[in-house]
Amino acid sequence: MVTLTFLITAGPTREPLDPVRFVSNPSSGRMGFALAEAAMAAGHVVCLIAGPTCLEPPSAHSVVRVTTAEEMRQAVLSRLADSHVLIMAAAVADYRPASFSPAKIKKGGGPLTLTLERTPDILMEAARIKEHRVHVGFAAETHDLIENARAKLEPKNLDLLVANDITEEGSGFEVETNRATLLWRDGSIEALPRMSKQKLAEHIIQAVVAYYGG
Ligand code: CTP
Repeated sequence: MVTLTFLITAGPTREPLDPVRFVSNPSSGRMGFALAEAAMAAGHVVCLIAGPTCLEPPSAHSVVRVTTAEEMRQAVLSRLADSHVLIMAAAVADYRPASFSPAKIKKGGGPLTLTLERTPDILMEAARIKEHRVHVGFAAETHDLIENARAKLEPKNLDLLVANDITEEGSGFEVETNRATLLWRDGSIEALPRMSKQKLAEHIIQAVVAYYGG
């Protein structure tokens, strides 16, 4: 059996506005944690990079806790060269407050307007230095699942994109199950039935290991 080194991200990122407020999303980290567990159970080496989650990360060869997209970026990029597979299951915040106020923002009478700026796209940066590494992305969509997901494969130079429609019951954030569609680099599409995130993780790890060997 071939032993691969997996770099797996999980959970949300948190982009601070002031010492008591942030921009984030409801990712629980479950999918990334299940992937880390499945890869460990299959005998691979796992480095797990986790954003702020309520759930405890599973044990892995190394677990790195990060908060912001920028911290996740640095944690991923510095470990890429030592990894065979990158799985970006994290729900990285796409935007962050353009400026951080070190003092708590006090409420005034009128509305508060926030300016948000883009966070670094970690998968896009990793794509530029991909070489033979297998890159796997996740896409959470609310409509036109296949078209939207397909449009992400090429720019991010992905081998596999795991797409799911988060408007479907039993799919997406904060639930135990997922109904995913796998889109591979060669154009093939695998629509999977609803299953636990654990079963889906086992399927993805097996498929990626077969792809790596193939
Ligand atoms: N991702 C990333 N860096 C970001 C944002 C997302 O690496 N700043 C990764 C996610 O971990 C996921 C994939 O990119 O694997 C999602 O692709 P993306 O195009 O960013 O999806 P969305 O954020 O859903 O894009 P959009 O909001 O345009 O649908």
